[in-house]
Amino acid sequence: MPRDEWVDPNPFPSEEPDLSVGSDNFIDGANADDNGLRPRSLDEFVGQKELKERLEVMLGAARGRNQAADHLLFGGPPGLGKTTLAGIVANEMGAHLHVTSGPAIEKAGDLAAILTKLESGDVIFIDEIHRLPRMVEEVLYPAMEDRQIDVVVGQGPAARSIRFELEAFTLVGATTRTGLITGPLRDRFGFDFRLEFYSATDLEAIVKRAADVLEVVIDNAGAAEIARRSRGTPRIANRLLRRCRDFAEVRSDGRLDQETAADGLELFGIDDRGLDKVDRKLLENLCVHFKGGPVGLSTLAISLAEPTETVEDVIEPFLIQQGLIMRTPRGRMAMPAAWQHLGLQAPVDAPEPAVDLTEGEASLFDQ
Ligand SMILES: Nc1ncnc2c1ncn2[C@@H]1O[C@H](COP(=O)(O)OP(=O)(O)O)[C@@H](O)[C@H]1O
Ligand SMILES: [Mg+2]
Repeated sequence: MPRDEWVDPNPFPSEEPDLSVGSDNFIDGANADDNGLRPRSLDEFVGQKELKERLEVMLGAARGRNQAADHLLFGGPPGLGKTTLAGIVANEMGAHLHVTSGPAIEKAGDLAAILTKLESGDVIFIDEIHRLPRMVEEVLYPAMEDRQIDVVVGQGPAARSIRFELEAFTLVGATTRTGLITGPLRDRFGFDFRLEFYSATDLEAIVKRAADVLEVVIDNAGAAEIARRSRGTPRIANRLLRRCRDFAEVRSDGRLDQETAADGLELFGIDDRGLDKVDRKLLENLCVHFKGGPVGLSTLAISLAEPTETVEDVIEPFLIQQGLIMRTPRGRMAMPAAWQHLGLQAPVDAPEPAVDLTEGEASLFDQ
């Protein structure tokens, strides 16, 4: 079963309510679990200190001047809070939020229909903005810059272009692939925020907050255990909390302490480092079948029977951050920690972690 933070043509997992354009569920509805867990204000948003500070300044200044906030771009792996932040921006600005996604906007006319409906100060969130068709993207430029949109009606010699003036609005874009955003699009954002994986301390706070909302009794050690094994990702932390709650309800008295959490996580195949079955399979294929690499991304993806996009956007970033694998121009390579994690002996010519190069002369001469 795919993980729910995996990139999907439908950017919103089924646990979340309908967030389509014009739907106000996002702000008003606390019906679905996940929606109830979403922080509504910057104060409630845990971690990402620098990002929060900058956003606070930008939004505060816009509010003070009674203007729409500048356009914002959020980049980073799935589940780190991009959609949540779009909601927070709207909330903090007291504005309506309209939600759509890159692949959902097929034609320039679709975009025009959305933009011309916006009222003054509204926030429009375009998820997976790197997947906007190029023709649509070009229509977006003047909309972002000059609040104008040119729509071509008719075809051939009869075609003519109609210009619409737009209300002041804020575009919030989210992408799992900052590298795929074109230069001209990126330049039109007032700020480009990059979300980082969360520390165990921040995730512990997120787990405790979610436990409060879900009315789960959990102690500090139980929260720390889940936090430590959540792949640095709030969405995963919330999901593991739910699975551990299930486990605690069925196997014990419903209370989550460290032991119950650890046993629950083990039952659901989450190992001591927070890696799941697919993560371990990737490491195993890389270390054993491909002898540590380098191996090309598409070959690796085929060996996992996953789309390359999933491997690149969802699985790899955390493994790289953890120093288990490395991206090189020739392909993916396993780091010694990968063999170690699998309980295998790393070959003598395994790549050294970059930070260690200044230490341990022996390893330099060994090569
Ligand atoms: N900083 C945070 N503090 C608390 N909860 C968070 C935070 N970031 C994300 N979450 C939780 O994680 C879930 C996934 O976040 P989301 O914004 O959908 O991620 P993304 O859009 O980046 O994939 C949300 O339901 C929210 O409850
Ligand atoms: Mg999202």
